[in-house]
Amino acid sequence: MPVLEGCKLGPTAAALDRRIKGALTRALKAHRFAGKIGETLTVLAPRGLSCSRVVLVGFGKAEGLDALAAHRIGGALVAQLASSGETTAALAVDDLDKAAASGPLLAANMALGASLRAYRFDRYRTTEKREERPSLASVTLLVEDPAAARKAYAPLASTAQAIGAARDLVSEPANVITPQAFAAVAKASSELGLKVEVLGPKKLKKLGLNLMLGVGQGSAHEPQLVVLRWNGVRSSSAPVAFVGKGLTFDTGGISIKPAGGMEEMKTDMAGAATVLGVLRALAARKARVNAVGVCAMAENMPSGTAQRPGDVVTSMSGQTVEVIDTDAEGRLVLSDALWYTQDRFQPRAMIDLATLTGSIMVALGSEYAGLFANDDKLAEQLLAAGSATGERLWRMPLNESYDERIKSDIADMKNDGGRWGDSINAAVMLKRFVGKTKWAHLDIAGVAWATEDRPTAPKGATGFGVRLLDRYVADSCEE
Ligand code: BES
Ligand code: MN
Ligand code: ZN
Repeated sequence: MPVLEGCKLGPTAAALDRRIKGALTRALKAHRFAGKIGETLTVLAPRGLSCSRVVLVGFGKAEGLDALAAHRIGGALVAQLASSGETTAALAVDDLDKAAASGPLLAANMALGASLRAYRFDRYRTTEKREERPSLASVTLLVEDPAAARKAYAPLASTAQAIGAARDLVSEPANVITPQAFAAVAKASSELGLKVEVLGPKKLKKLGLNLMLGVGQGSAHEPQLVVLRWNGVRSSSAPVAFVGKGLTFDTGGISIKPAGGMEEMKTDMAGAATVLGVLRALAARKARVNAVGVCAMAENMPSGTAQRPGDVVTSMSGQTVEVIDTDAEGRLVLSDALWYTQDRFQPRAMIDLATLTGSIMVALGSEYAGLFANDDKLAEQLLAAGSATGERLWRMPLNESYDERIKSDIADMKNDGGRWGDSINAAVMLKRFVGKTKWAHLDIAGVAWATEDRPTAPKGATGFGVRLLDRYVADSCEE
């Protein structure tokens, strides 16, 4: 039952409250309930009703009830009931005066929030006790016009699926998702109408993606460049390109990372997972756009064949890089992938996603991803998509004064500019591999993996970027 800020019961709740002689109003008072978005209060076994509980859900201020608020409300309801023992729940989606969204769209967005929050990765829990498993199996939304609500939900449901697929890939451990295994999963996406091509080490060698090969040369699992294409309009229309960092595991290489927390580096392919998710979302809703997704897959391992600090490598672009720190591997892999993408596809815009630096986590925490761009209009479009989807971006600087920091004594540049402002040092290097292409780089190291539950994601993989870029395409690229 919806409750607005200031403890105003929605029409359905008010009617129910009268039937049970003001029990809901009394419960709200007793609990200091404010009605803030996503706040919940459960009244168990209410006398005079046959249901096992009434959950009062804060809807906030009617004026603020937009799509984002709806996601949080749907998410909060699921979080409250997931392991409560209940198997079904029904949410009364009242049409409220002055609400920013109403009817079918409001309900559809609540359903999206519920579905995203109900995500669970339980493939490997074989001995979990029944009572530890979530009980909630379905949520029904009570609406005026069910057919219209269902229609509004259809495209959101396919986005939710694409997000779930991306989260699965990030959650999978690195002994399961190797570069080859990721490529195989991507290939299976051809069933949605995507064209999928995989470039193995031989092809990469021939094309000269030596930065990417260098990062992977210490691993038994060879690098793979996965190229996905969605053709939604005539072929003469230049594509929008997405490029993802796909380190299936990042030990740091010879510049090895400390043991504590290293397991989190299975998530270092989140950029690639999001790129696959975005392409899947575009295909599923038959977006009127041409799009390319490039996933640069490799594993960063120390071994007798691993690259060493001090190695100098010639990139596909011809520029040479001195590898000071083998743990700054993301910028190496991406540099070749970006060059390859603009060289082959001449995209109208190119956006990369990467769990690139710890430095962006120091700067922005887990509320915003870092945005770097060489084009103000592209940056504005992405910032707008961020505000609209709640996957928020914060623009970071990228001017020439940072260039000094990646000067090498023996090569065109080095892959390490020191501790200070490292997320910028990394972006400044990437910028040298995009030519004249309009380009944006999203450093998602702080947002790809949540260490605590979030309103629309349980802790773990978030799938950050799928909603954002799907929205960017819808608002700024589609015909
Ligand atoms: N994959 C890491 C960045 C990262 C850190 C992602 C924590 C998610 C959580 C990246 O490859 C890395 O190791 N970066 C180094 C760069 C440094 C050696 C210049 C870093 O940020 O410490
Ligand atoms: Mn690293
Ligand atoms: Zn990394």
